[in-house]
Amino acid sequence: MIGSSIRRFRRALLAVGATAALSAGLLTAAAGTSQAATQGPCDLYRAGGTPCVAAHSTTRALYGAYNGPLYQVRRASDNATRDIGLLSAGGYADAAAQDSFCAGTSCVITVLYDQSGKGNHLTQAPAGGAAGGPDNLANAFEAPVTVAGHKAYGVYVAPGTGYRNNNTNGIATGDQPEGMYAIFDGTHFNDGCCFDYGNAETNSLDTGNGHMEALYFGNNKAWGSGSGNGPWVMADLENGLFSGVNRGFNANDPSVNSRFLTAMLKGGPNQWALRGGDARSGGLATFYNGARPNATGYNPMHKEGAIILGIGGDNSKWAQGTFYEGVMTQGYPSDATENAVQANITAAGYDSGSTGTGTLTPGSRISLRATTAPCCTSHYLRHDDADNKVVISTTNSSSSATDKADATWIVRAGLANSSCLSFESADKSGQFLRHYNYELYLDTDNGAGAFAQDATFCPTTGNSGVGTSFQSVNFPTKYIRHYNYTAYTASNGGTNSWDSGTSWAADTSWLVAQPWS
Ligand code: AHR
Repeated sequence: MIGSSIRRFRRALLAVGATAALSAGLLTAAAGTSQAATQGPCDLYRAGGTPCVAAHSTTRALYGAYNGPLYQVRRASDNATRDIGLLSAGGYADAAAQDSFCAGTSCVITVLYDQSGKGNHLTQAPAGGAAGGPDNLANAFEAPVTVAGHKAYGVYVAPGTGYRNNNTNGIATGDQPEGMYAIFDGTHFNDGCCFDYGNAETNSLDTGNGHMEALYFGNNKAWGSGSGNGPWVMADLENGLFSGVNRGFNANDPSVNSRFLTAMLKGGPNQWALRGGDARSGGLATFYNGARPNATGYNPMHKEGAIILGIGGDNSKWAQGTFYEGVMTQGYPSDATENAVQANITAAGYDSGSTGTGTLTPGSRISLRATTAPCCTSHYLRHDDADNKVVISTTNSSSSATDKADATWIVRAGLANSSCLSFESADKSGQFLRHYNYELYLDTDNGAGAFAQDATFCPTTGNSGVGTSFQSVNFPTKYIRHYNYTAYTASNGGTNSWDSGTSWAADTSWLVAQPWS
């Protein structure tokens, strides 16, 4: 039995080696196989004797033979839903299906389907001990990427967003061994509790130490931390984020912030390990490998077998992050199996898809230059560091790195309407340009519908005939405007001082420029 699983595993490793030279895509089977079967991470876990019992991804198939749906979206215009599947078996998400289904409206992700065949799908998390619910659903357009050149969307978890399955099949319970990995956006995190993926309580309550075993990513220091300022990959074992053997500081857990981050956790009887690496290149480093914490309750463990994404075990939902794919296994995967999975991940070809060309394409970075002459043509729209207001100020090549970053925006598909746009700060991840009382602010996306509306603008031909204007989606007579060097949404005549008709057309017209940072 052991011998045959080693043989199977060797075959899988050969498959990895055989395809390392291929430029793109998933791994293929070893030479000599009559059909070019692709291999996904779950084929490698199966070959290692630790099969996946949950496999979630919005970007690609996690088995070479998988050809079912990846996720489901629901659109705002009529509440209709659509499953988003693959371009081909074992391949990549059919993002164009989402684009056309959601055109002219907004969409949220309602289901992350389990590819393992166990039926462990993730849906909207219910209320829990720490916070009411149901949680928000992720906007389907907020995390655009490419995988091997194919457009796809990740799961963008704003605070308040969460997915869960409290009635699973085949997930480890008690002290049973399991493994898991996830690919996160290493630049999107916060210190709220708790951006998790993994095993949690089946009643959404904190039922005590050792009742969870989930990957955590962020810079929360309430229970544990590693070297540097974070973010860190840690293990959420309930009532504690563990960066090493015990709660508190563990120097071996490094700050990790690669754009695409592989995070791995495994745990069995009096043994657990935390590993991680860059999901685009290189191998895995081991951050911890050893005994269970010595605090009461963690040895043996009391895992309950629910699955969470984006929240803590008790539905603590103050964290943010982005998830692209992840799996949970039955059994404790070997380091060799995990290394093969990491090779598969780096070969998959994740990319941010950012063009950086100064175009209004979701994912690209831009700066917005004012057009009103003579006052303001060297001024760019930026957020203030002293408060959360949005202003215009002179920006040029001599400006400080902070000023340049403050004047740089990442274009996102509109949070409330995917045919329009939203603008995320380049240096304040998760914070968007939004109006409030018709003044513009930089504010954290809380996932709520009202925020999405206030943060969505539809580009139109510039009101002055120059450049582009940005029309508020919920107040269509109003456009992004600067007035006395401060930014507003303003109509051409109205009750607020910034609705003044003088220079309104020029003040609401902007040049989409190369990003300052
Ligand atoms: O262990 C950290 C957090 O503590 C858990 O995710 C949550 O259930 C509890 O509040």
